[in-house]
Amino acid sequence: MNKISDCIINKKSSLNPVWFMRQAGRYLPEFRKIREKNPNFIKLCLNTRLATEITIQPISRFDLDAAIIFSDILMIPHGLGQTVEFKKGIGPTLKEFDLNNIINSDEKNFVEKMQPVYNSISEVKKIIKNKSCIGFVGAPWTLLVYMLNKKSPKKDFNFTNIVKDKILVKKLIKKLEDTICLHIDKQIEAGADVIQIFDSWAGLIPSTHIDEYCFRPTLNIITHIKKTQIPAICFPRGIKNHYSNFCQTVNPHCISIDYEIDPRWAKEMFNGIPIQGGLDPQILLKDKETIKEKVINLVDIFSDYPYIFNLGHGVLPETKPETIEYVTNLVKGR
Ligand code: CP3
Repeated sequence: MNKISDCIINKKSSLNPVWFMRQAGRYLPEFRKIREKNPNFIKLCLNTRLATEITIQPISRFDLDAAIIFSDILMIPHGLGQTVEFKKGIGPTLKEFDLNNIINSDEKNFVEKMQPVYNSISEVKKIIKNKSCIGFVGAPWTLLVYMLNKKSPKKDFNFTNIVKDKILVKKLIKKLEDTICLHIDKQIEAGADVIQIFDSWAGLIPSTHIDEYCFRPTLNIITHIKKTQIPAICFPRGIKNHYSNFCQTVNPHCISIDYEIDPRWAKEMFNGIPIQGGLDPQILLKDKETIKEKVINLVDIFSDYPYIFNLGHGVLPETKPETIEYVTNLVKGR
């Protein structure tokens, strides 16, 4: 069994598995080279040959324990028929959509559109052998946010406004749950060993609604995954002290923490659920001494706990590739 599955399923500690969110991305010159020639990001994600190559890029350089498939959480809105574009320096922009068209879009059509992603997973699996292949999805809330806000909510977001049409929101969340489960099943069928669920904007939900928009929809997906043999890692970024309620309610196979979470608190409160991540990606921009201190600190805290080393969010584009190598080797005790 690969180290990540062994850590999550058998709750083994001291295996020191490591991978990085956004390990395939702009900090790698070989990624930027492919990206320059492929300005249409969605098309790039749907190019099996290139998506496979990009997925393998960090694996060829560093001694990582997992490959995460090169795709995007916004492939689901795209697969449902909403126009999604990635503009340089702006991030994703989405167009208006007709709710009925989305609700009535059929599964067969979605799977046909996404088939290149599933094919990439099968190709990656052939190459990586004893490492994990991580498939992923966005959580219903985070996808809803992008679909209705039509751009990143980083600067411009109003919760009351987003959820004001209760009927639309309810229907859309249900459709997203079904589509997410379908996308997960197909990724597992293609060979994914682990599924990560990104709820990147869970932190925008007021406490009064966190159960309705974060816990419940995610629980429905986790309940579905538990019918398979494949474990899931949940990443409800930014929910602060609700992390422990999340673990109690959703009970995922593994929980990824962001850098606002105190790792010692997590270890105490999460009832033995394997933990992933936590290091602030900004740390990787600092000097070697600081990096070493912070990395060793995390590894030490979790030395007697099932823990997967990762960051508290994605690798920043400014990160030096050598730093990823340095950190990987530190975690592995070299
Ligand atoms: O290496 C990996 O982690 C696998 C591939 C991956 C990408 N996106 C590729 C990507 C994964 C797992 C994602 C998930 C994703 N996508 C999330 C959840 C994680 C998170 O960051 O919170 C979100 C919110 C998105 C939506 C998205 N995609 C945004 C906001 C952006 C633009 C901003 C940015 O960080 O670049 C993207 C584009 C994107 N997805 C890039 C990559 C490598 C950059 C593409 C480029 O411009 O060259």
